[in-house]
Amino acid sequence: MTKEHRRFTEFADACRRDRYIGLCYGPPGVGKTLSARRYASWYELSPLLRRGHKHLTQGRDRLDWHTVVYTPTVSATPRIIDKELCDLSSNLTVIRTPDPFDDRSLADPHASSAFVELLIIDEADRLKTPGLEQLRDHYDRSHLGMILIGMPGIEKRLARYPQLYSRIGFVHEYRALSADELTFVLQRHWSTLGLTLSADDFTDAEALAAVARITGGNFRLVHRLFAQITRVMEINGLNTISREVVETARESLVIGTL
Ligand SMILES: Nc1ncnc2c1ncn2[C@@H]1O[C@H](COP(=O)(O)OP(=O)(O)OP(=O)(O)O)[C@@H](O)[C@H]1O
Ligand SMILES: [Mg+2]
Repeated sequence: MTKEHRRFTEFADACRRDRYIGLCYGPPGVGKTLSARRYASWYELSPLLRRGHKHLTQGRDRLDWHTVVYTPTVSATPRIIDKELCDLSSNLTVIRTPDPFDDRSLADPHASSAFVELLIIDEADRLKTPGLEQLRDHYDRSHLGMILIGMPGIEKRLARYPQLYSRIGFVHEYRALSADELTFVLQRHWSTLGLTLSADDFTDAEALAAVARITGGNFRLVHRLFAQITRVMEINGLNTISREVVETARESLVIGTL
C-alpha cells in the first residue's frame, strides 16, 4: 500500500462519486495497472465476470464491487469495445443484484445500473479515434464515472479530441516511489533474502543509493533488479548486498530510457 496507491484511490473515488472522466498517466512500471486492479478488487471479481454466469448473487453484499477494469486489445474495434464493456457491466449487475430473477436492469445494455459506478480503461493509449469516440458514446449513455489510464503524453493526445477532452474532469499523475518510500520497499526485499537493511550501515546505505539511482523508484525495475541481485548473490555465495553487487546485477539488465 504505497502513497501513490492512496492518491489513486482518492482520485478514483472522486471520479466515481461525481461521474466524471478522469485521466491518469505515468511512466511504465510505476504501478498504475496494479493500483487500478486493487481498487476494483479485480482479482476476485474478474473470474466471476468472465464466466458470465447468470443468476449468481454472490456479490450481493460486496459493496466494494462497483468498478470494472477493461483493457482493450491492440486490435480492438469500436464494436468489440462496446460489446465487451456492456457484457462486463451487465455481468457485474447480475452478480450484485439481490434478486436473481430481476432482469429489468439488463433491458438496455448501455444503461447504467445502480451497481456499476466506475469504468477503468487501462492501456488507453491503444485506442484510436473510433475507439475513443466509442468510449465517449458509452460514457454519455451510461453516465458512469470513467478513468483512462495511459502513458505520459496521453493528456496532450486527447486534447486533440475536443468533445472527449471537454468531459475530462480530473487529471492525475501517477509517480514513481519517493526516496523514503523506496527505502521502505527495499527493507522488504532485503528481508525476503533473510537480511536486514540498516540505513546506518555504510555498505547498506551505499547499496540503497545505488538501487535508487538505477531504478529511480520504478517498481518494475526494482523487481527486475532484485531478481538479478538474488542471482549474483547465489552464484558468488555472498550474504551481503553491497554497491558492487547492485552494479553487477544492473549490468545484466536492459534498462530503457524512461
Ligand atoms: N504497490 C506495489 N507493491 C508491490 N509491487 C508493485 C506495486 N505496484 C507495482 N508493483 C509491481 O510493479 C510492476 C509494474 O506494475 P504495473 O504493471 O502496475 O505498472 P504500470 O504502471 O501499469 O506499467 P505499464 O505502463 O507498463 O502498464 C508489477 O510487477 C507489480 O507487481
Ligand atoms: Mg499497466
